[in-house]
Amino acid sequence: MRAIYVAALLMCACFALAHGANKRCNVLSIVTNVGSWVPTTGPAKYIGVPKPTGYWLAEFTHSYTVFKNAGCSITVASPKGGLGPADPPGFNFYANDPVTQALVAKRADGSPYVPVTENTISAAAITNAQLADFDIVFFVGGTGGMWDFPYDDNLHRIARVMWESGKVVSAVCHGPMALVHAKLSDNSSLVAGRSMTGFSNAEEELLGTATVCGLCYPGNEAAACPVGLTPANCSGPHMPSEYPTKGSFLLEDGLKAAGAVYVSTQQDWSTFYFRPHVVRHGRLVTGQNPGAGRETAEAAYDTHRLLRLTKKKSCPVWSQFADTFCSPVQQTAADPPVKCKTNGYIPKC
Ligand SMILES: *[C@@H]1O[C@H](CO)[C@@H](O)[C@H](O)[C@H]1NC(C)=O
Ligand SMILES: *[C@@H]1O[C@H](CO)[C@@H](O)[C@H](O)[C@H]1NC(C)=O
Repeated sequence: MRAIYVAALLMCACFALAHGANKRCNVLSIVTNVGSWVPTTGPAKYIGVPKPTGYWLAEFTHSYTVFKNAGCSITVASPKGGLGPADPPGFNFYANDPVTQALVAKRADGSPYVPVTENTISAAAITNAQLADFDIVFFVGGTGGMWDFPYDDNLHRIARVMWESGKVVSAVCHGPMALVHAKLSDNSSLVAGRSMTGFSNAEEELLGTATVCGLCYPGNEAAACPVGLTPANCSGPHMPSEYPTKGSFLLEDGLKAAGAVYVSTQQDWSTFYFRPHVVRHGRLVTGQNPGAGRETAEAAYDTHRLLRLTKKKSCPVWSQFADTFCSPVQQTAADPPVKCKTNGYIPKC
């Protein structure tokens, strides 16, 4: 009798934990809608030929899995709603990653896709009242987000409302594109004066997004074309002219221009995809690169956990959270000095 009672109690406890009954955690995970772009400048062979893009697969799958394993419920949204496309190379890149593959399915024709990002909710449909139910907003990166994230008023609204109601605002890789132009109610920048990271200019160069011709586009020749070249004969992949005409930018440049204290790790091509680097400034949690999906989500969840604790115990919130942790990679000389922790970044409270 007693054994049955204890077993029943244990089952109850497990059930409660698995379903997060005692620790509310609702996550709004936001992915891009942009699955391709058509270059209108650059070498003739690129013009008019759609190039695939999207969200970067593991930034979504790894963060989603962290939140799910922590007992959170996750709502997946995007600026327009509907399909959130994964950047196709990710399916090969993470073919042997079980965490990612657990969220990948095959269509009838054998092509891979991610069912949970097939039919996302539109950011416009999420009201401010509904945002009260969320604890964490997480902006997933990938180069697709360079197109729609910076210009979506609803993403800016979501970031503002979440921030101003004391929630966790987090983003990885190109995800902070959604925050660069985000304003608070007093019209000040959400990111100004805050320590942040995100995909770096050096990483863009490695990817080929910004080559020497990257900013050599019609109307910008004098400023950005290499000597003796014009947009017509500058070779190499160009940043699409749509970027500058819409006022787009490289993320590191955008964050710095908005007044953020941008922090990155020194990276090299052979390792940067795999080295997580996360910066936490209060409730603002950002990860630098495709390898940081898991760690950024862990830090975001941990911040949520600390907020709940500090409400109960009235711990000093801001000093507890102003930390940075990263892989043991040397900081560049130009970066502000940061405290690098290899583990144990979760402050005691
Ligand atoms: C908000 O600030 C921007 C500059 O950052 C300015 O152009 C704009 O007029 C301001 N809007 C209001 C309502 O104050
Ligand atoms: C590129 O075009 C400009 C303008 O037509 C020309 O002056 C320049 O020599 C060209 N450069 C090359 C490397 O073809």
